[in-house]
Amino acid sequence: MDKKVINLLITEAQKARKMAYAPYSNYLVGAALVVPSGNIYTGCNVENASYGLTNCAERTAIFKAVSEGQRHIDAIAIVGAPLMDEPSDYAYPCGSCRQVMSEFLPESGDIEVIVAKSLDDYKIFKLSELLPNSFNL
Ligand code: THU
Repeated sequence: MDKKVINLLITEAQKARKMAYAPYSNYLVGAALVVPSGNIYTGCNVENASYGLTNCAERTAIFKAVSEGQRHIDAIAIVGAPLMDEPSDYAYPCGSCRQVMSEFLPESGDIEVIVAKSLDDYKIFKLSELLPNSFNL
């Protein structure tokens, strides 16, 4: 993937992380995805006093994109860390978010999932590596 796009997605995910609403876990997550037109959509985690209603950053970004007409995701970057910290670990998408991603594959096949600590410390996976044999109808 183009290094400029990787940088942009990580930067946007870092910015989105600052919008996280996470008063219960104090764990802030940001996500940024790119669609085939080049448009970028971002999201953060949104928690709730009824904990199970929490929405992850990845799904926030995906639902924003889909609700604006997008149906395919080329790549998504994720940045997560506790409130006062800079990321010291890669924040991998939870199983639910992996399944939701699998609904919106690009025409070409696979989504690139970037887990980032910083602009120069990240890993890239194919969604099919993170969610093999995914459920599809
Ligand atoms: N979280 C995400 O935003 N994305 C994930 O893939 C895993 C977890 C959020 C949910 C919750 O607000 C916080 O991280 C701690 O679980």
